[in-house]
Amino acid sequence: MTTTLITGANKGLGHETARRLVAAGHTVYAGSRDPERGRRAAGELGARLVLIDVTDDASVAAAVKEIEAGGGLDVLVNNAGIEARGPGNAVAGAGETTAELMREVFETNVFGLVRVTHAFLPLLRRSAAPVVVNVSSGLASLATVSTPGSPAHAYPGVAYPASKAAVNMITVQYAKAFPGMRINAVEPGFTATDLNGHAGTQTVEEGAEIIVRMACLGPDGPTGGYFDAEGPLPW
Ligand SMILES: NC(=O)c1ccc[n+]([C@@H]2O[C@H](COP(=O)([O-])OP(=O)(O)OC[C@H]3O[C@@H](n4cnc5c(N)ncnc54)[C@H](OP(=O)(O)O)[C@@H]3O)[C@@H](O)[C@H]2O)c1
Repeated sequence: MTTTLITGANKGLGHETARRLVAAGHTVYAGSRDPERGRRAAGELGARLVLIDVTDDASVAAAVKEIEAGGGLDVLVNNAGIEARGPGNAVAGAGETTAELMREVFETNVFGLVRVTHAFLPLLRRSAAPVVVNVSSGLASLATVSTPGSPAHAYPGVAYPASKAAVNMITVQYAKAFPGMRINAVEPGFTATDLNGHAGTQTVEEGAEIIVRMACLGPDGPTGGYFDAEGPLPW
């Protein structure tokens, strides 16, 4: 039996990933930072609720204890993320980007991901087939964002793409450090969720596809890569 934790599983891509992995037979811990939203989601999903705020050391430590007591962890899906859009769903461009905004976005998307991964490493190391999926973004790709004409080139924000580029680098370095684990970054595609005010053009079913696929990798699967549903992406 595979045991899987998904952070930020109370809605959006995390919720859909949890639904699919429950259906695939995983024992799923649906992570939520809010008890009420989490209880509702876990009930709908037939998953276990674990309270986890990725920005909070004590919350993450408590989640590790709970999942360890439940028998351990095989798959960690680092999904929780924010884009921090402003009024009217506007993305802060370079001229409006402050250190404070960068810190807010990095606190969840980067430091949160490292906090959670670091805390769960002992459990993952005890798994026979450990897997980590880091939910990145197409906007993490320096190659794509710097290519005129690509949709990502038109995105004006600084904090979010920079945070996801950091996630990609973290993925590469962890994958080298832990060759026994499958550790990959994924780009779900532009998906209609609360994160973008439902401006995304894909459904969560489409967006969760690559997250689910990489969460189900066996020991012979790729590691240290960056993928969307079509295959490997340029860094
Ligand atoms: N939607 C897209 O087009 C798209 C494209 C590429 C990548 N992504 C990535 O996909 C992931 C999921 O995003 P989504 O589109 O599904 O957005 P979403 O619907 O806004 O869901 C984000 C989830 O993260 C949780 N979260 C935020 N901060 C948290 C924290 N400090 N601790 C724990 N959980 C926290 C949210 O919980 P609350 O409900 O409590 O806020 C929510 O469950 C993110 O990493 C995002 O960057 C999304």
